[in-house]
Amino acid sequence: MTDQALSPEETIPGKPTSASRTTLSHIMTGNDTNLLGTVHGGVIMKLVDDAAGAVAGRHSGGPAVTASMDEMVFLEPVRVGDLVHVKAQVNWTGRSSMEVGVRVMAERWNESTPATQVGSAYLVFAAVDADGKPRQVPQVVPETERDRRRYQEAQIRRTHRLARRRAIKELRDRRAAEGIED
Ligand SMILES: CC(C)(COP(=O)(O)OP(=O)(O)OC[C@H]1O[C@@H](n2cnc3c(N)ncnc32)[C@H](O)[C@@H]1OP(=O)(O)O)[C@@H](O)C(=O)NCCC(=O)NCCS
Repeated sequence: MTDQALSPEETIPGKPTSASRTTLSHIMTGNDTNLLGTVHGGVIMKLVDDAAGAVAGRHSGGPAVTASMDEMVFLEPVRVGDLVHVKAQVNWTGRSSMEVGVRVMAERWNESTPATQVGSAYLVFAAVDADGKPRQVPQVVPETERDRRRYQEAQIRRTHRLARRRAIKELRDRRAAEGIED
């Protein structure tokens, strides 16, 4: 996993953020609850993965698989009857990977208040070819100041993900070289 510059012949036209931005809406039912009677976190995570996958597929123009999901945050409980809107967009693109940012909003079925944010997450998708191998994606072209901020924040997360993976690999390699078994 390295950040490699694209050679000119590899360059494909960029795509604006708005070209793939997607909202998936769903009414929560009694099948979605946990033992407390509120909506199970895993149900929301599935919707988040679905919306992000749709965005990644739209942006990359083909199949894309979830490589990671991080910073999934649940801010408030979701209840049966709530209309949940899962809003997703490509924040950042690498060579074959895309960071998709997702915001989860809920309209309370029994309140005439605006939708409130109940969660958020960041997912990395890799675009893959017919053999499941990573393929190149169009660079995302941020259009607004908010898009540009999200792009810059995604770069910070990317740097931290790579650094963390590298540090853990180095630790494991060092322990293995020292003959330590766990
Ligand atoms: C994701 C996957 C395609 C990566 O394949 P790979 O052989 O490791 O290829 P690479 O190391 O070149 O990674 C491809 C890209 O994904 C990124 N990536 C891979 N693993 C990642 C991770 N855990 N977190 C963040 N990014 C990751 C790489 O940084 C690289 O990005 P870039 O091309 O923009 O620089 C492969 O691990 C896979 O198929 N995983 C299973 C995915 C899946 O089935 N998801 C559904 C779960 S049921």
